[in-house]
This record gives sequence, structure tokens and C-alpha cells, in this order.
Amino acid sequence: MAERVRKAVFPIGGLGTRFLPATKAMPKEMLPVVDKPLIQYAVEEALAAGIETFVFVTSRGKSLIEDHFDRGIELEATLERRAKTKELADIAATVLKPGQIVFTRQQEAMGLGHAVWCAREVVGDEPFAILLPDDLVLAKTPCLRQMVDARAATGGNLVAVIDVPRAHTNRYGILDIGKDDGRLAEVRGLVEKPEPAKAPSTLSIIGRYILEPAIFTHLARFERGAGNEIQLTDAMAKMIGTAPFHGLRFEGRRFDCGDKVGFVEANVAFALARADLRDQVRPAVESVLKTHS
Ligand code: G1P
Repeated sequence: MAERVRKAVFPIGGLGTRFLPATKAMPKEMLPVVDKPLIQYAVEEALAAGIETFVFVTSRGKSLIEDHFDRGIELEATLERRAKTKELADIAATVLKPGQIVFTRQQEAMGLGHAVWCAREVVGDEPFAILLPDDLVLAKTPCLRQMVDARAATGGNLVAVIDVPRAHTNRYGILDIGKDDGRLAEVRGLVEKPEPAKAPSTLSIIGRYILEPAIFTHLARFERGAGNEIQLTDAMAKMIGTAPFHGLRFEGRRFDCGDKVGFVEANVAFALARADLRDQVRPAVESVLKTHS
């Protein structure tokens, strides 16, 4: 049996320049898809996968996120007085138990690998998950839950993957694969953002990982990779051969909410997936499409 995954790291130090001016004073992770901030989707996904400790790697200007997951005592009292049961339930879902949430800072933007390294003391010597809230997954079974279940059989390191058009390989960490049963692919190599002609495959990593703690030893070397950043992908590549390593083609659809088009798409898809909104949103979207075609 694979050791249980109890902790999740959320690297949320990024500036979000692609969403200016919205992200001038507000962290990009607080951008809402329909009515919920991106970071809350990621936290709920982790909760559904059995995660108990939530490690946020933040940076300056991200304190709003800390407030979001805290109690809102005055707000709760007002909602109670007004008997707003639905709203009370909505905000109750944002509160994690005392001690369940840990904030640590990435003081300098040195890459995703560096952000994860900043969580080393909190994670300690056990396997852990990483969720990048920009990647939003709409799925019947939440993506990280699918990964935890798959890892119960494989053990070791596991990343969630999708097939992308070859022209897009330079946006992602790309797998070189060995044995592949169509769902789980053995990872033989990993390259960060290769040019399409050099990509070993078109199987790309989305922002969901379950990694062995050995990753921290590799990250601690502070080796610079693509874009002169400390890349998580490069450190993961060093673990190949030391423990099982697989890519999981999860069931569901992933939206790149770090990109304007992906973000708009996600809003439409998540609204249409909601029983309380679907019937009003569909004709509204159709009418917009008719008017603006
Ligand atoms: C990061 C990783 C990349 C991964 C991607 C998923 O890239 O470095 O390997 O495929 O997240 O979203 P970024 O999006 O930070 O450039």
C-alpha cells in the first residue's frame, strides 16, 4: 500500500500579469469562476482527495487569500440575523480547521521548483500533493481524488497529464513515456517546455502532482533550467528510476485559467455544469453568440 497523501502544497506566489488590471491589488488566485475563487476550487479538490494539511506558498500582496479561508465573524453574525442559510453554508465551506492551513513565503520569484522547495519544512518526509490553482478541472470525480486512487496501485510519483497539440509543447512539462495502457503511462523522461520539434511526446503535465519527498533533495541544489528558473520538472526528472513514476490521463476537462480564453471558457463550462444556473445560462450564452457572430 502506498503511503497516504496528507499534505498539499499550493504554489501561489505568481504575479498574474496576464490579468492586469484585475490583479493589480488582488491575487490572481482570487479571480472567481462563476462565484468561487480559483484557490477555493483547488482547496475543495484537495479536501475531496483526503488532504488534511494545506500549505500555501505565497508572496507579498497575497494576504487576501489568508483572510478568505478564515472565519468572517461579523459577516456570519449578520447572515444569521437575516436567516441567510444558503449564504452561511457558502461561507462555511471556505473555513479550514485551526492548524490545518499553513502559510509560508516565497521571497523571490525563482520558479515553480523554488516555490515547492519553500514548503519543505512543513511537508517533511512524506509524499505530498501539489495543486496549481490556474489549472481548473471539471470532472465527476475530482482530479486529485482520481490520482490518489490510481496511486494506491502504482505508488511513487504521479502527475496528471493531457494530450496537447504539438504546437503547444513549449507551454508545458512534457513526458517521454515507456509502457502505456492508455490511462497510465510510465514516465521515462521529462522535459520542461520543449520546442514542438524536440518534444518527446505531446503528453503534457497539468498542475496536479503527487511526489515523493526526495524531490526536496533535488530542488535544494537550486539548479536553473528553462527560462533560468528552478524548474520542478527538472527535479522530478532526477527521480525517474528511483521510484515508480507515472502520468495519469485523468477523466475530466482541464481549463487553463492562467489564460484569458481558458478563463472565459471555464466560466461558461462551470456555469453550465451547475444545476442552479444551467437553464438561465444556456440561453444567455446562445443569445450572446447570436448577437456577436
Ligand atoms: C508549470 C510547470 C509545467 C506544467 C504547467 C502546468 O508551468 O512548469 O511543467 O506543465 O505548470 O500548468 P507554468 O504554467 O508555471 O509556466
